[in-house]
This record gives sequence, structure tokens and C-alpha cells, in this order.
Amino acid sequence: MISWRKHYKQTLIAIGLLLSTSASIYGQDGDPKNGEKLFKANCTACHALDKQVIGPPLKGVVERVKTEGGVDKDWLHKWIKDNKALRASGDKYANEIFEKFNKTEMLQFPNLTDKDIDDILAFTTNPPAPEPEPTATTAPAGEATAAPADKTTTSIVIISLIAIAGLLVWILIKLRQLVKLGQSEELVGLNETRVRSFSEIYEKYHYIGKGLLTILAILAAYGVWNWIMWIGVYKGYKPEQPIYFSHKIHAGENKIDCQLCHSSAKYGKVSEIPSMNVCMNCHRTISEYNGKYIEPGKDKAFYDGEIQKIYAATGWNAEKQQYTGKTQPVEWTRIHNMPDFVYFNHSQHVVAGEQAIINSFNKKNPNNKIDVVCKACHGKIDTMNVVQMANDFTMGWCIECHRTTEVDMNNGYNKEYFKNLHEKLKKQYPKDGGKITVDAIGGLECGKCHY
Ligand code: HEC
Ligand code: HEC
Ligand code: HEC
Ligand code: HEC
Ligand code: HEC
Ligand code: HEC
Repeated sequence: MISWRKHYKQTLIAIGLLLSTSASIYGQDGDPKNGEKLFKANCTACHALDKQVIGPPLKGVVERVKTEGGVDKDWLHKWIKDNKALRASGDKYANEIFEKFNKTEMLQFPNLTDKDIDDILAFTTNPPAPEPEPTATTAPAGEATAAPADKTTTSIVIISLIAIAGLLVWILIKLRQLVKLGQSEELVGLNETRVRSFSEIYEKYHYIGKGLLTILAILAAYGVWNWIMWIGVYKGYKPEQPIYFSHKIHAGENKIDCQLCHSSAKYGKVSEIPSMNVCMNCHRTISEYNGKYIEPGKDKAFYDGEIQKIYAATGWNAEKQQYTGKTQPVEWTRIHNMPDFVYFNHSQHVVAGEQAIINSFNKKNPNNKIDVVCKACHGKIDTMNVVQMANDFTMGWCIECHRTTEVDMNNGYNKEYFKNLHEKLKKQYPKDGGKITVDAIGGLECGKCHY
């Protein structure tokens, strides 16, 4: 019986600790926010937090290398700055993981300072709270809108934590009273009344209890939903490519149609990167750069060198004007990449949805209209020297557009496909005077986007 009293104090202390650690973790060495930026800029080409990409997942890597390799932060600094040198020095663990990953070379980062690396490691140890919920404006790159949702989410979390803590303290106080009661002499005599009064209390207060439980359940569901909507946001991701191919020069300056190179967007699920043969259609004759536009920091010699890479890759001998047969594959780094369990179909959006998406985008962005459907999702690619993810490409982003984009019921495909459904839907969705958005034709059904 006495141990209850002990537990009571310990539990209170534990709650206090629990509440305070969430704040204090962030105080440890390194700034995870800055680390996140550095991580996105330097590491996401090969690493994610939770899954293996080219290298291992990096969440909690400080702890992991300690247990798996018996090495410390110092080792991580050396590895990240120059893993090659570390391997060459004969370091056992460094060589072990290199072998384990089939001798795939990680890049060297001599430019990262010790503080940078501490920041990155702080980020991998404690990824900071989610970025603000995307407001799913399908805005082109550079026009990210900060959502106000962030602050409300934080305060909801804090308030619910306080509420839970309050509830726990209340329960403990009640328990303590019960225990005291249990210790008293008159226990036997009181037993009956206590049972009765307990059911009276239950009668009186069970609505409040249930109400509290419901609120907690709603908060938990809200948290899970936010988490689903947030995961895997890579907006702004722009890796370096093996050939410095500029969309600004091709699609912008020279007005080459997107679909000349990404022709499969129209027909299929994917919209592949063009093969080198497509490049050669033009570059057999365009062997040097004579354009007026030069990106700051670059020059003609640089562009000429990049065009030469096309010849090296296809084995084209420009002097003899013939192929030598010696080819080298060019490995473009994939920028947009949905997880396997997501079904996304370009043709559904580029063909069936084309007009609907363009109209809806232009209505939402009257000062920033688009002419080509691709830009609604990929941003103004024709102004980018290096392709950058212009939107979040999260589930929340897909769904927001489906909620707000009115389907073009008059296009050939939908007219045929939804003949009977159309009239029914018009009655069923009288909002906005019978407008039918993508959600009405099933655009929010889990099974439409998930295998
Ligand atoms: C070009 C791809 C590439 C890039 C970019 C890259 N890494 Fe790696 N990384 C790897 C590979 C591959 C491994 C596995 C070991 C090997 O094969 O050398 C690895 C291993 C690691 C390890 C050891 C993990 C373990 O489990 O032992 C750490 C730590 C690490 N990387 C951190 C980073 C950080 C931090 C960055 C960004 C500053 C970064 N990496 C950028 C490819 C990369
Ligand atoms: C002359 C050929 C060519 C034209 C025209 C072209 N692209 Fe590309 N596109 C490429 C190549 C090559 C890559 C891979 C290298 C890179 O990412 O820059 C690419 C990459 C992309 C990517 C990123 C793919 C990934 O890895 O996820 C997108 C999105 C894209 N293009 C959209 C467009 C849009 C939109 C247009 C029209 C405004 C367009 N492209 C016009 C050749 C072209
Ligand atoms: C439809 C014709 C066409 C196709 C197809 C084409 N290019 Fe080009 N490319 C051009 C033109 C035009 C220029 C600019 C030449 C000038 O202004 O002198 C150019 C310039 C370049 C340059 C120098 C400027 C820059 O973007 O860095 C590179 C590199 C290049 N192209 C790579 C490629 C690659 C790689 C492919 C295939 C994925 C490709 N091109 C496909 C027409 C094309
Ligand atoms: C409704 C939004 C949307 C529109 C419109 C759109 N895309 Fe995409 N695009 C995506 C998504 C989402 C992905 C990632 C697909 C994946 O990983 O499976 C993607 C990926 C790509 C890729 C990378 C290769 C691939 O297929 O995964 C290229 C290239 C591309 N898009 C080009 C285009 C071009 C060119 C157009 C216009 C003709 C276009 N996209 C229109 C959403 C869109
Ligand atoms: C810019 C707006 C926009 C975005 C972003 C968008 N979609 Fe769509 N989506 C549409 C439109 C419009 C249609 C209806 C096309 C039609 O008329 O059939 C559609 C239709 C669909 C359908 C078919 C629905 C049905 O019931 O037949 C699927 C599946 C789909 N989209 C998946 C996705 C996925 C997955 C993403 C995110 C990766 C996404 N969409 C992002 C506009 C969008
Ligand atoms: C319009 C398309 C679309 C619809 C409808 C949709 N999802 Fe998703 N969902 C996605 C995309 C795209 C992703 C991947 C997001 C990313 O990688 O950032 C995703 C990711 C997820 C994930 C995260 C998986 C993980 O761990 O990485 C879960 C869980 C999920 N969806 C469940 C659902 C459920 C449940 C529904 C039905 C209520 C649903 N989705 C409806 C497009 C959709």
C-alpha cells in the first residue's frame, strides 16, 4: 500500500520529464532546421531518413553507427567530409559499409564545416516538426506560400498535451485519495457506500469522460492525417545532372515543345526522360552553343563542353560524321518519384484533364497564367536551368487539386465514359450550381491512387 505513495511521486516526476524532454531534445548541439536545409541540398539524392535510397536511411544514424560499428561522431565527421580518405586510411567500419553497398561511392563534402555536419546530424537525430501543411496552391516554383496551419497545429498539440497531463494528475490525486481511504480503519464500513458513490460518480460524470476520450481520439486521428499528408515532401529538390541540360534554353529560349522530348506523357503512365537518340535528332547538327542567353556564371565554352558529352554518350564522331559504336549510358537522376504504392497516370491528366486543369489553374492564378498543362504541376519548367520540384507532390497536394478542379464533362473521354453518371452527379452535387469537381468522379477514393 505504501508503495502507491512512492509511485505517485515518481509518476508525477516522469510526466514532468516527459513534457520537458520534448523541448530539451532540440537544445542539443546542432541546429536541426539548418541541418534539414543542408540535408536536402546535399544528401537527398542518395539518402532518405526512413528508407534506403542509394545509401542507407539516415534517421538516428549517430546511434546506429555507434552500435553497428562502434564509432562516434568524430568518425561521422571524417566520413561525411571525405569517405574516400577515411577508407584509404584503412578504417575498418568505413570499408565494411563500402563493401556492403557494393562499393557504391558516396560523394565527398570537404566544404561542409564541422558545424554544418553537427547540424545535419542533429536533423537526422531529431527531424524538426513537420513543415507547414501545403496549401496546395499549384503555384509555379518560387512562389511557395507559407500556410498558417503550422501554428494552429502546434498549439493544438500543446493544449492537448496539457490536457492529458491535467487528466493524469487528476486521476493520480483520485487514486491517492482512494488509497488513503483503503488504509483507514473504517474501510469495511465504508466499502458499501464507496461502491455506491462510485457508480453515482460514474452516472454523473461519464459523459465528460467519454467527451474527453472522443476529443483525444479526434486529435489522434488529426495527427495521423497530418502525418500522411506531410510525408515525403521534397519541394525544391534539384539534383545535379550528368549533362547540364537547360530547360530554359530548350523549352524557353528555343520554344521546343515539352512533348517532343517527353512524348510518352500523352500515352502512358510515365513520362520518361528522352533517350540520347532524341537529343541527336537536333544535336547531330547543333554541335556548339551560339545562343544569346548565357546563364550568369556560365559561358559558351561550358555549353559547348556539355554538348560534347552527348557525342561521347552516343559514340558520335563529329568530324567523320559517323557513330563509332562506343556508347556510354547517361544516368539522369530521377527527380519526381512516387512510391510504388501510388498510381499516377500522366495521360489521365495531360489528355483527359488537360483543359480542366489549365482553366482551373488560370482561374486561381489570374496574374500567372499557364499555356501548357504540364506547368500546373511542374511549375514554369521553361524558365528553369535546372529542373526543380515545384510542388510538394504529396497526397495532400493531389487531393487538394481534385477537390477544387472542375471536371470538363464535355471532353470526348468524359462525355463517353460518364454519359449516365453525369446527370446523376449534377443532382447529387448541387454545390456551385452543379459544378462537378474531380472528387465527385472518384478522385478521393483510396483505391484510385493506391494499388
Ligand atoms: C552519391 C550518393 C551519396 C550522397 C550524395 C551522399 N551519400 Fe552518404 N552514403 C552513400 C552510400 C552509397 C553509402 C553507403 C556506404 C558506401 O557505399 O560507401 C553512404 C553512407 C553514409 C553514411 C554511413 C551510414 C552508415 O549506416 O554507416 C553516412 C553517415 C552518410 N552516408 C551521410 C551522408 C550525408 C550527411 C550526406 C550529405 C551531406 C551524404 N551522405 C550524401 C551515398 C551518398
Ligand atoms: C529537348 C528535350 C526536352 C524538352 C523540350 C523538355 N524536356 Fe524535360 N527533360 C529533358 C531531360 C533530358 C530531362 C532530364 C534532365 C533534367 O532533369 O534536367 C528532363 C527532365 C524533366 C523533368 C524532371 C523529370 C524527373 O526526373 O522527375 C520534368 C518534370 C520535365 N523535364 C518537364 C518538362 C516540361 C514541362 C517541358 C516543357 C515546358 C519539358 N520538360 C521540355 C528533356 C526535355
Ligand atoms: C528539338 C531540337 C533539340 C533537341 C531534341 C535537343 N536539343 Fe539541345 N539544344 C537545342 C538548341 C536549339 C540549343 C541551343 C543552341 C544555340 O542556341 O546555339 C541546344 C543547346 C543544348 C546544350 C547547351 C545549352 C544547355 O542546355 O546547357 C546542351 C548541353 C544540350 N542542348 C543538350 C541536349 C540534350 C542532352 C538533349 C537530349 C535530352 C538535347 N539537347 C535535345 C536543340 C535541341
Ligand atoms: C497533374 C499533375 C501533373 C501534370 C499535369 C504533369 N505531370 Fe509530370 N509528373 C507528375 C507526377 C505526380 C510525377 C511523378 C510520377 C511518378 O513518380 O510516378 C511526374 C513525373 C514526370 C516526369 C518524370 C518521369 C516520370 O514519368 O515519372 C516527367 C519527365 C514529367 N512528369 C513530365 C511532364 C510533362 C512533359 C507534362 C506535360 C505534358 C507533365 N509532366 C504533366 C505530375 C504531373
Ligand atoms: C492540377 C490538378 C491535379 C493534380 C495536382 C492531380 N490531379 Fe489527378 N486529376 C485531375 C483532374 C482534372 C482529373 C480528372 C481528369 C478527367 O477529366 O478524367 C484527375 C483524375 C485523376 C484520377 C482518376 C480519377 C477517376 O475517378 O477516374 C486519378 C487516379 C488521379 N487523378 C490521381 C492523381 C494523383 C495520384 C495525383 C498526385 C500525385 C494527382 N492526381 C494530382 C487533376 C489533378
Ligand atoms: C489523389 C490521389 C490519392 C488518394 C485519393 C489517396 N492517396 Fe494516399 N497517397 C497519395 C500519394 C501521392 C502518396 C505519396 C505521398 C508522398 O510520397 O509524399 C500517398 C501516401 C499515402 C500513405 C503513406 C504511406 C507511407 O507510409 O509512405 C498512406 C498511409 C495513404 N496514402 C493512405 C491513403 C488512404 C487511406 C486514402 C483514402 C482515404 C488515400 N491514401 C487516398 C495519393 C492519394
